Amino acid sequence: MGIPQPAFYIFKCEQSAPPGMPKPSCVTPETQDLFQYTAQKLMKEGIMMTAPIVRTSCMNRCAQGPIMLVEPGHTMYVGLNKEKIDRIITEHIIGGNVVEEYVIDSEMWDTAISPADAKKQMGM
Ligand code: FES
Repeated sequence: MGIPQPAFYIFKCEQSAPPGMPKPSCVTPETQDLFQYTAQKLMKEGIMMTAPIVRTSCMNRCAQGPIMLVEPGHTMYVGLNKEKIDRIITEHIIGGNVVEEYVIDSEMWDTAISPADAKKQMGM
């Protein structure tokens, strides 16, 4: 038997704006422990191997931060805190049901443009 691939990847934006920058960001002094919190929760549940969390930089949804993207499924969770992360892990990652109330507004997360169509739009 081979090494199983993960069932999910959890991409957590870990971008912080420099002090004094007006632009919002996902990591502030109040939210900087969310990555660690999520990693510990996944370890406690014994599912880190099949649902690893990955640090990323900005995914261009800063105003809704803190955010994380769950793949597969393109599920973008926004406005995160510890309680929301607990529910996402229990209900989505373990239970298989997206926690719709924490998902980004569809206006802000419209259907993806295929790379082939993106090239056409750019006249390439
Ligand atoms: S800083 Fe997290 S999406 Fe931009």
